Amino acid sequence: MPRLFIAIDLPRPISQAVAGLAVGIPSARPVPEDQFHLTLKFIGEVNEDLGEDIAASLEEIRYPPLTISLGGLGLFPPRGVPKVLWLGVQPVEGLTLLHNRIENLLYHRGISREGRKFSPHITLARLRNCPTDRLGLFLAGNNLISTPPFTITDFHLYRSSLSPKGAIHTRLRSYPLST
Ligand code: 2AM
Repeated sequence: MPRLFIAIDLPRPISQAVAGLAVGIPSARPVPEDQFHLTLKFIGEVNEDLGEDIAASLEEIRYPPLTISLGGLGLFPPRGVPKVLWLGVQPVEGLTLLHNRIENLLYHRGISREGRKFSPHITLARLRNCPTDRLGLFLAGNNLISTPPFTITDFHLYRSSLSPKGAIHTRLRSYPLST
């Protein structure tokens, strides 16, 4: 059964600009530059038929291109032992509307809505037993980082295959954002 998610990719100059940010944090596993993405909706495992149906139905989404920039760092979970270091996105309104459109469409195909609030982000690194003082210093020293604005003109359906070396993300289909 394919494990699916829907995401936006970053333009190359933007991923290059933020690559390496998380390198050097003790016990952090930085996400490789070519795997940066902004998850719009995690679908999870579905059977092949439903996967095909989802892939086809996403063609119905009509949404204009989105201009965003990246900036601000944070941790998931925000309290307790941090597992993910993320880079924020501004503004979030357009992404949230697109996320809602996708959720509504998938809800009619039996995919449950996300229980928690959608918080768009780019995962920069996964953390394990990272010393909190080092993390605090890193956040304080890098929190003003931001990228120039850039325009997103499509989103993608991805398959995530779990492997001993980590998840492998394969792009299955792309959908344009256009007026
Ligand atoms: P991320 O967007 O925070 O990096 C594929 O697994 C992608 O879907 C990952 O990039 C992951 O996190 C995102 N995702 C969102 N919710 C998830 C969940 N419940 N389980 C696994 N991945 C999830």
